Amino acid sequence: MKSILKVLKWLGICLVVLLVALVAFVQLTWNKTYDAPLPQISASQDSLAVARGRYLVYGPAHCATCHVPMDKIMEVESVGTEFLLSGGWEFPIPPGTFRAPNITPDMETGIGKLSDGQIARALRYNVKRNNSCLFPFMPFRTFPMRISVP
Ligand code: HEC
Repeated sequence: MKSILKVLKWLGICLVVLLVALVAFVQLTWNKTYDAPLPQISASQDSLAVARGRYLVYGPAHCATCHVPMDKIMEVESVGTEFLLSGGWEFPIPPGTFRAPNITPDMETGIGKLSDGQIARALRYNVKRNNSCLFPFMPFRTFPMRISVP
């Protein structure tokens, strides 16, 4: 009986130590920032380049698959309807839910305030405008457009 109590006591102590370590880790790292380079680029206005971008977004790069509302995804994938990229895809990872944000040029709800460099940095390095990290749902960081696109 005594030895069981002793084991329980040590288990309790270990649990408290682990909990304190976890809380300290989260406190120290939750708002970490990254100084990824800001690509010095500006988006081309050339109509061919814009058409190519549109093709990639609604086609092989699958941007639209995540950045349109949930109920539109199947239609984007099957017939390629060009819905606004107003955000919507949800990925529930308890205790929260991740959402693909609005990436229309809207100044308040979209990414209208981001520079072209900031958008490129989000895709290349998964770093947000405030230098915090974007959760790595987007695959471009690991195979940045080097995939062969038809
Ligand atoms: C697998 C789903 C998925 C795909 C495919 C995807 N995105 Fe995302 N995107 C997300 C999610 C989820 C976030 C938000 C992540 C976060 O908040 O940490 C995001 C964030 C962004 C952001 C940052 C917005 C901001 O406010 O900083 C931009 C820009 C963006 N995506 C553009 C694109 C483009 C362009 C493509 C295609 C080349 C694309 N995304 C493809 C899911 C996706």
